[in-house]
Amino acid sequence: MKVLLTGGAGYIGSHTAVEMIAAGHEIIIVDSLVNSKTSVVDRIEEVADAAVAFHAFDIADADRLSRVCKSEGVEAIVHFAGLKAVGESVRDPLHYYRTNLTTSMSLVDVMQALDIRHLVFSSSATVYGEPERIPLDETCRATEAANPYGRTKIMIEQMLRDVQVASPTLNIALLRYFNPAGAHPSGRIGEDPTGTPNNLVPFVTQVAMGMRDELVIHGDDYPTPDGTCIRDFIHVQDLARGHVAAVDKLTQDCGLVTYNLGTGRGYSVKEVVSAFERTTQKHLQQRVGPRRAGDVPVSYTDPGLANLELRWTATRSIDDICQDAWRWQKQNPTGYP
Ligand code: UD1
Repeated sequence: MKVLLTGGAGYIGSHTAVEMIAAGHEIIIVDSLVNSKTSVVDRIEEVADAAVAFHAFDIADADRLSRVCKSEGVEAIVHFAGLKAVGESVRDPLHYYRTNLTTSMSLVDVMQALDIRHLVFSSSATVYGEPERIPLDETCRATEAANPYGRTKIMIEQMLRDVQVASPTLNIALLRYFNPAGAHPSGRIGEDPTGTPNNLVPFVTQVAMGMRDELVIHGDDYPTPDGTCIRDFIHVQDLARGHVAAVDKLTQDCGLVTYNLGTGRGYSVKEVVSAFERTTQKHLQQRVGPRRAGDVPVSYTDPGLANLELRWTATRSIDDICQDAWRWQKQNPTGYP
């Protein structure tokens, strides 16, 4: 199948590109490069051992997107493109609403005009806000995120549900990611954050590299066994395979489906730090600081629905995540060239 990936040069997009090719799909990447580099596409081609069609432009340009979809004969779209920095979304909410919402709307316009009927949307467990219950399943309340970034995900999900009701021949998968981490085992593609990483694992690998002085653990007075927050860390390669499974599902004319993609197992911040130190034999300079605003104590999924309906299961462990993230960091100390 011909699958277009918006934001396909990003962290999750690049790993998904590799897995899509391995599954026999032909992929087309569109990326504005605001948050990524062209060398990512070279690395995807190297790892996948295949040529990739790449177009560098912002999908807000609907005419150009339409031309590319037509000329490439696109049959399905996986929509990763979007802004994703929580703190920045609090400082500049309009930028987030404008970018994430308008590009998603114009993408759907293009799909409808060209009768492209399959869409996977990159959503997030952030839509669950303060969890209604743990483990989180797809029936939990998903209407109150803690920040504008999360609210753009909620709004786009809602917009897509409404569009699908009005156009029932559209097949849409909303994939709610838990905490993606790790890198491709080759060490050639991985996460390349700009500036100070917000997320735990890239921060840890930068401390281990000596690029940052210490890890600050954001609070150890949560109601959890060791006092630190618990998250469902999912290896990015497992997450990528989840997208391949979702595209397969769409081709069975499933209408709108929603899946949580996670492992079903939570690890605390301290457990992640221990796993990293044990698997890499690196000591991490660390201290406990105050809580970070907006963090929930515990978040992990019941992956049962995705396991059953997508016939997909996360298979990689927290040790795999640590080892692969570390290999990527060591081999690419300053990220992509
Ligand atoms: C965060 C975002 C979420 C987004 C997701 C993308 C917030 C509140 N949530 O999720 O919206 O979808 O990333 O991957 O920002 N931690 C430390 N020290 C650090 C970094 C993190 O102790 O230097 C802790 C955090 O306080 C948290 C845990 O590690 O308890 C995981 O943090 P992070 O990787 O940022 O993920 P989330 O907060 O779950």
